[in-house]
Amino acid sequence: MTILYSHAVKLPMKGVILSGGRGTRLHPLTKATNKHLLPIGREPMLYHPIRQMVSAGITEILVVTSTEHIGHVVACLGGGNEFGCSLNYVVQENPRGIAHGLALAEPFAQRSKLCVMLADNIFEYSIAPYADAFRRQDTGARVLLKGVGEPERYGVAALDEQHVVEIQEKPKAPKSAYAVVGLYFYDAQVFDIIRTIEESERGEFEITSVNNAYIKRNELRYNHCKGRWTDAGTFESYAEANRFMLENGNRILAHDDRPSGHLEGLIDD
Ligand code: G1P
Repeated sequence: MTILYSHAVKLPMKGVILSGGRGTRLHPLTKATNKHLLPIGREPMLYHPIRQMVSAGITEILVVTSTEHIGHVVACLGGGNEFGCSLNYVVQENPRGIAHGLALAEPFAQRSKLCVMLADNIFEYSIAPYADAFRRQDTGARVLLKGVGEPERYGVAALDEQHVVEIQEKPKAPKSAYAVVGLYFYDAQVFDIIRTIEESERGEFEITSVNNAYIKRNELRYNHCKGRWTDAGTFESYAEANRFMLENGNRILAHDDRPSGHLEGLIDD
């Protein structure tokens, strides 16, 4: 008997959590430990991206972390049973930026779609609707935007009526107040794109360069991020992340926890 496999069979989306980096903006808290092992509310920071991915049905996850701290990271997270997922690990030696860390995920990805999360990004609501929007998207990439008070701290999106036309990394004169948050969805082209990008002036392979390459191909879509969001890379944002996670008892809210009408405009398909 011959079994024909249809092209319509979709590979499951996999998750990549980036938790390398030196966390220098949080010194001396990060002198002896990885930033992502610091507490947020009642749990280590790294629990959050894992719980977020599981809430979106992503259960095969790769954690990319630094040589110095991988032992503690594995001791903290284990194989993933506690979270209902399978965890894999890879070491990012000599960290040279977010895109450099993501490149290490190529053998793990095996051409699946990827959900990539920076481990210091904390979202009040589940990322599930954005993951579902990307599951429905045939090719390309998807990012999330959030209106912020200090856009110059982030990747900032310039928008026309429908599209992101350019992203600038930490611009001195931001073209909008929309930060590109640290949650990205990519198809299998991402690794070829990473091979084409060049180091930025600060000597990093920037995720913003990857996203701009998708814009050039006309393949970058976006959603607005609903609810509270913050990174936890500075003392102020770390305090904010603690505040709202303590308030919510570290629970990730489902979108139907919001008053009706909330879903309107959530997905910009
Ligand atoms: C990184 C990205 C930036 C993004 C931010 C979100 O910056 O380079 O584009 O807006 O994460 O947290 P970092 O905070 O690592 O400097």
